[in-house]
Amino acid sequence: MTDKSIIILSLMVFHSSFINGKTCRRQLVEEWHPQPSSYVVNWTLTENICLDFYRDCWFLGVNTKIDTSGNQAVPQICPLQIQLGDILVISSEPSLQFPEINLMNVSETSFVGCVQNTTTEDQLLFGCRLKGMHTVNSKWLSVGTHYFITVMASGPSPCPLGLRLNVTVKQQFCQESLSSEFCSGHGKCLSEVWSKTYSCHCQPPFSGKYCQELDACSFKPCKNNGSCINKRENWDEQAYECVCHPPFTGKNCSEIIGQCQPHVCFHGNCSNITSNSFICECDEQFSGKKCIYIHPYTQVTLILSMYFKLNVKYFLYY
Ligand SMILES: *[C@@H]1O[C@H](CO)[C@@H](O)[C@H](O)[C@H]1NC(C)=O
Ligand SMILES: *[C@@H]1O[C@H](CO)[C@@H](O)[C@H](O)[C@H]1NC(C)=O
Ligand SMILES: *[C@@H]1O[C@H](CO)[C@@H](O)[C@H](O)[C@H]1NC(C)=O
Ligand SMILES: *[C@@H]1O[C@H](CO)[C@@H](O)[C@H](O)[C@H]1NC(C)=O
Ligand SMILES: *[C@@H]1O[C@H](CO)[C@@H](O)[C@H](O)[C@H]1NC(C)=O
Ligand SMILES: *[C@@H]1O[C@H](CO)[C@@H](O)[C@H](O)[C@H]1NC(C)=O
Ligand SMILES: *[C@@H]1O[C@H](CO)[C@@H](O)[C@H](O)[C@H]1NC(C)=O
Ligand SMILES: *[C@@H]1O[C@H](CO)[C@@H](O)[C@H](O)[C@H]1NC(C)=O
Repeated sequence: MTDKSIIILSLMVFHSSFINGKTCRRQLVEEWHPQPSSYVVNWTLTENICLDFYRDCWFLGVNTKIDTSGNQAVPQICPLQIQLGDILVISSEPSLQFPEINLMNVSETSFVGCVQNTTTEDQLLFGCRLKGMHTVNSKWLSVGTHYFITVMASGPSPCPLGLRLNVTVKQQFCQESLSSEFCSGHGKCLSEVWSKTYSCHCQPPFSGKYCQELDACSFKPCKNNGSCINKRENWDEQAYECVCHPPFTGKNCSEIIGQCQPHVCFHGNCSNITSNSFICECDEQFSGKKCIYIHPYTQVTLILSMYFKLNVKYFLYY
């Protein structure tokens, strides 16, 4: 097991990353849920605020970039990853309801710098100031990453204290058509935390975008070290081709080039398969293309009996 897989495994166990004393729940891999979910984000400074030198509050991840821009790290509400169609509710705490605050959809640059350039009315998430629970209109939650910062009618914004949110909305590519089964029923529709979409992770021997193809090579049909090539035809166990090393030939590289000659199969029977290939059917205890080899267990028995005889001699000698 590699170091990376150990780290990933332990992350799977803890399901979260620990940042500066605050924990952002972060499932490394999420499975698509067919019914939309609701997420309530508490718009508060007292919980779920994370801060680290990776810009997006990830403790560990393939995609984490160190902020090289020299910007001072600004805290943020734990970033959210949701599915297209999920419901996002912002819940404000009473102390924040007093000043007239609202949420504004901004660009990544504005989010990183926490800058409230000008309050553009049409980019405000809610029609009135934040009070209690507000459901975010789905128009703000299209596929992609969205940045919401806190704006105030007057005075400085509390955004630099951490009142800003990064929401990534993902769609799935797990169904061939709207009515078809997810991953053709042969896999899971998953998204890693760093990927932008949900896609099929197939159970072997299935493969393909929707797990609709059978990977015939996973059955290892090519004998005698022949290489296997998938022919990628749907639902066909025979959809492979073997590339054989001489003297092997045949669909599965299990035949030998040539025809039966007397005694060609040392301990077995010979049968001609085609005009240019034959196969040896070995007697029990023998194996190999020409039935020359004794099975390992037979060898072990032979060696053991020899060893035993030697020992007996040894004892007799003394
Ligand atoms: C939001 O706050 C409520 C009440 O304080 C709490 O019960 C809930 O767990 C919080 N939700 C999250 C996502 O932290
Ligand atoms: C926002 O979150 C997405 C996905 O989680 C991430 O790729 C992106 O880097 C984050 N943006 C910032 C500015 O941290
Ligand atoms: C939200 O802001 C981004 C960046 O400024 C912009 O591209 C996007 O169109 C805005 N979303 C909506 C629904 O206006
Ligand atoms: C602020 O607004 C000005 C004028 O609209 C624009 O040129 C500038 O790029 C904006 N800055 C940011 C950080 O959005
Ligand atoms: C090749 O192997 C498959 C199973 O792996 C078997 O079903 C098939 O009959 C074999 N074909 C030949 C020509 O030996
Ligand atoms: C099997 O084939 C591979 C490459 O095709 C080769 O590297 C390997 O040595 C072969 N093994 C045997 C036992 O012939
Ligand atoms: C196989 O073919 C060879 C050469 O054509 C022939 O001599 C032999 O009798 C055949 N053996 C069997 C078992 O059919
Ligand atoms: C070989 O042929 C003989 C005689 O037909 C038969 O008794 C024996 O079972 C065969 N051996 C194998 C391994 O097929």
